[in-house]
Amino acid sequence: MPRGGASRGGLPGWGFSRVEGCRSGGRQPAATAPQPPHRGARPCRLTAAVTAGAALAAGADADAVGVVVGVAVGVAVGEASLRKADVGRAQARARRAGRSVSRMLTLLTGGAGFIGSHIVSALQSAGHTVRVLDALLPAAHGPDAVPPPLAEGVEWVRADVRDREAVARALRGCDAVCHQAAMVGLGKDFADAPAYVGCNDLGTAVLLAAMADAGTPSLVLAGSMVVYGEGRYECGRHGTVRPGPRRVADLDAGQFEPPCPVCGEPLVPGLVGEDAPVDPRNVYAATKLAQEHLAASWARATGGRATALRYHNVYGPGMPRDTPYAGVAALFRSALARGEAPEVFEDGRQRRDFIHVTDVAEANAVALAALAHRARPAGTLRAYNVATGHPRTVGDMAAALAAAAGGPEPRVTGQYRLGDVRHITARADRVQRELGWTARTSFARGVADFAHAPLRGSATSVA
Ligand SMILES: NC(=O)c1ccc[n+]([C@@H]2O[C@H](COP(=O)([O-])OP(=O)(O)OC[C@H]3O[C@@H](n4cnc5c(N)ncnc54)[C@H](O)[C@@H]3O)[C@@H](O)[C@H]2O)c1
Ligand SMILES: [Zn+2]
Repeated sequence: MPRGGASRGGLPGWGFSRVEGCRSGGRQPAATAPQPPHRGARPCRLTAAVTAGAALAAGADADAVGVVVGVAVGVAVGEASLRKADVGRAQARARRAGRSVSRMLTLLTGGAGFIGSHIVSALQSAGHTVRVLDALLPAAHGPDAVPPPLAEGVEWVRADVRDREAVARALRGCDAVCHQAAMVGLGKDFADAPAYVGCNDLGTAVLLAAMADAGTPSLVLAGSMVVYGEGRYECGRHGTVRPGPRRVADLDAGQFEPPCPVCGEPLVPGLVGEDAPVDPRNVYAATKLAQEHLAASWARATGGRATALRYHNVYGPGMPRDTPYAGVAALFRSALARGEAPEVFEDGRQRRDFIHVTDVAEANAVALAALAHRARPAGTLRAYNVATGHPRTVGDMAAALAAAAGGPEPRVTGQYRLGDVRHITARADRVQRELGWTARTSFARGVADFAHAPLRGSATSVA
């Protein structure tokens, strides 16, 4: 079990033994009436990913993990040729790996949100007991939000992560925290900065302080690719370079590609790895990076373990529709739903890594399983890109969605937003190597599904 004992190496008085005592404090009663089943659970697929991650974390070698995946999705992928002994060993390993996860109580902040609601399904499928804490932020849910329908057994706490007492209560008995709550997107203008910093950084600090107090040993943090700023670029003469922010004059002139900062020549974009220097370029990005720094400090101070999952461009059912905080795929999807052409900024050739939300949800379940098995030394934070590793352009997304929805062709407008970076695409090999997770929803299948999927209702103003 992940409870207790994880405080080795932590500061005196910050140990985790009190978690056992907290557990006996009992679980919070769900604040809402019995809920209908949650939509969208994909137990078989999830079991495979979680099992692989957990088995890897538990010390299984890579080949054995491959076998475990085969066992879990054996029918789908036709792994009938696996040797019986291998299967037996893999199943035993998977059972050992899955045992502790299946008894975990996990606090999921932001669980009413787009990604969080998919994580609820993923964690439940993996056997976690899930307690959702969410403020139903008006910026995300509109002014009159009601609690979302949650699956049976999911506990619901409506509270703000900045509220110390509420967070301390919600943490009682929890083995791990999956921290998704945040204000997302670029916002309207700089006046949003205090709200971003409040929700994302003060909120994270309050949560971590409460975790330190309660002795909660494990944290999975929703990170973001925005911490990298512009992605990786190569200059023919100067090798790997880091272009500065793009100039307004260049953007006004339709010159969207950042030039080499040394010689001014065109650059070739590449894939960014987790060890690339960070370079947040807007308020939201700064707050997402600060969350990681805070989580790393918490881990060092308490002997806890933290995993930051740096999501790339997440899309899928339940995305918030067109607000200044919505992702580009939702803006396109909303335009098509109105019968309008998606409007593509710049020249449409901006490169992104679009990842389906169900894959992101699975990555969270796998990361929690790895933490439960203490696959890494205590007192550390490790960051992972959560991406497909296969870049697409924003124009590709608009065109694919328009085709799948049978709507009008996208219109490339040449407009731009100063806070946007040109290209940001990632290597996804670390998460595969270390956690045994890889994205499995193809762009074609994900977009076809998203073209007809429901979006979340409009939000109005910033809280
Ligand atoms: N959507 C993406 O493409 C993307 C990409 C990278 C990272 N992320 C990260 O993923 C996480 C989830 O994002 P999402 O797209 O689901 O956004 P979302 O707005 O749909 O969900 C965020 C949830 O957090 C809640 N919340 C915000 N502030 C809160 C507070 N102070 N107290 C309690 N609850 C609060 C909101 O009510 C909302 O339900 C965020 O941390 C975000 O930074 C998202
Ligand atoms: Zn150069």
